Amino acid sequence: MAQAPLSLSAPAKINLALHVTGRRADGYHLLETLAVFCELGDRLQFHPSAEDEFAVTGRFATGLSADDSNLVLRARDRVRLASGAAPCPPVSILLEKNLPVASGMGGGSSDAAAALRALSRLWDLRLSHPALAVLGADLGADVPMCLSGRPLLARGIGEEISPLEDWPELDVVLVNPGAGVSTPDVFRRLASRENPPLPPMPRHADHGAVCDWLAGTRNDLEEPARAIAPDIGQALDALRAAGAGFARMTGSGATCFGLFPGPRAAARAAAAIRSGHPGWFVEPTRTMGAHA
Ligand code: C5P
Repeated sequence: MAQAPLSLSAPAKINLALHVTGRRADGYHLLETLAVFCELGDRLQFHPSAEDEFAVTGRFATGLSADDSNLVLRARDRVRLASGAAPCPPVSILLEKNLPVASGMGGGSSDAAAALRALSRLWDLRLSHPALAVLGADLGADVPMCLSGRPLLARGIGEEISPLEDWPELDVVLVNPGAGVSTPDVFRRLASRENPPLPPMPRHADHGAVCDWLAGTRNDLEEPARAIAPDIGQALDALRAAGAGFARMTGSGATCFGLFPGPRAAARAAAAIRSGHPGWFVEPTRTMGAHA
């Protein structure tokens, strides 16, 4: 492995809208979701090493198992399996866990996506994006969308992805009130599994059009997640009280996002929410637009 060490970010994912439209025979749910990715995220470093190693640092390191069940190591093993006869020498991986675990921001999936991309490069395997997406889909329904990292619509169980060519950057505040929510538990509690699909996309998606469009959409997982973790309601109330033009839960929760008209408004709101809730994860960030 002659290449230099690699450092990649694993951006937080926000499901701006998530409609559950059905259920497959295997129990997985059919979705329509509009997902965007943030400047904020985890960070991964990959170094050539005498033996395979894995370490986790960062604010949320303690919430995470560093054993073989970790999605990063499962991604590493999947790439090795897909490498054919090509050499895949030992690698030391350092994960800086900046996002809360099991929080609806796709942190584990984004970490896995970063590992797939990094190891294909580090080992010079030249796996195509579609090939990586197939490996990713084996690891989790959200991994293919995290490989894209750009605003997108996803259907199926999340693996049928259409990039959005016209979607603005958005200033957001992310709030996690501390409760880890289990995704299968949330899906299990859904009252209805056959809900209307997303409405047609706006023609020119500026900030105002995005807010108008979002008002006609839902996150169908919000209600069942709130039944498990009532703090989600408090996080949404706090975002609205701090001036969010729009607030909703992302993924299966418990993280909520609020939209703000600019970075200064987002930073002010984050400071206000933090002062009222010092134990919460409260971070202003910006989502990446279609042309970032
Ligand atoms: O694919 P992943 O391991 O991330 O999914 C975790 C769990 O979430 C699944 O085992 C399933 O219970 C639920 N899920 C679902 N439908 C999806 C995605 C996830 O029911 N589209």
